[in-house]
Amino acid sequence: MKPGAISPQVHGLFDPATWTVTYVVHNGPGSACAIIDPVLDYDPKAGRTGHASADQVIAYVRAQNLQVEWILETHAHADHLSAAPYLKAQLGGKVAIGDHITAVQKVFKGIFNLESGFKLDGSQFDHLFKDDEQFQVGDLSGRILYVPGHTPACVAYQFGDAVFVGDTLFMPDVGTARCDFPGGDAKTLYASTRKLLSLPPETRLFMCHDYPPIDREVAFETTVAEQRARNIHVHDGVSEEEFVAMRERRDATLELPVLILPSVQINIRAGQLPPAEENGIAYAKIPLNVL
Ligand SMILES: [Fe+2]
Repeated sequence: MKPGAISPQVHGLFDPATWTVTYVVHNGPGSACAIIDPVLDYDPKAGRTGHASADQVIAYVRAQNLQVEWILETHAHADHLSAAPYLKAQLGGKVAIGDHITAVQKVFKGIFNLESGFKLDGSQFDHLFKDDEQFQVGDLSGRILYVPGHTPACVAYQFGDAVFVGDTLFMPDVGTARCDFPGGDAKTLYASTRKLLSLPPETRLFMCHDYPPIDREVAFETTVAEQRARNIHVHDGVSEEEFVAMRERRDATLELPVLILPSVQINIRAGQLPPAEENGIAYAKIPLNVL
């Protein structure tokens, strides 16, 4: 079955601590499913992880009697730790990300001075997706859209009329993702947003985050038509030059995410904690005066 021919069911769980939406995409109760961008709770004061958010995903999957085939990351997130290994242990499924993750691993292996055995080939993941690669979730056909800019490795996942855009577009009144992390690039993100906005106008777009203005509720589903008409950063008519100038001006004002340091060093390991030291404890590192 071709992408576009079907309309899968999508369940979104919003995490208010990190503004992240985790999705379960499936074809109805009893079917196969994919989990997208699951969150591992993390208390930075205590350095302690937790499973409350991931357990909500598990409860939904079990209530719908779904079989997890894939646990998909849109990119190596900088604002939350991935719950992929926890969910894989509980529910099964293969953990996957875009194949350009190797470039991100290389940059951050340097910054964090990771152990020499840390591989730069993405082998911490079960599968690396190439641009336009197709794959199956039961009878749902999925397709990869390579959409770099926020990071050099971002991908979006398309299942029929539903596209999980990762950190590219946000809701129309919020705009687009930042491009100032290592390897990010505003011009590249502009091209990725045009790629997404060239999909059929009725295509359902599911955001990776929402940062709602105070006068509206959290929302994370919109359409290509709505984004082309109303996205404050990339509605039809905004040129690449205008976008890049706006994005770079705005990025210069943004603070780094609270959890960027623990998140990145764990997420480039596919969500695994670093190897424990001789005392049995795993440590996250803080590079001083680098970021
Ligand atoms: Fe991100």
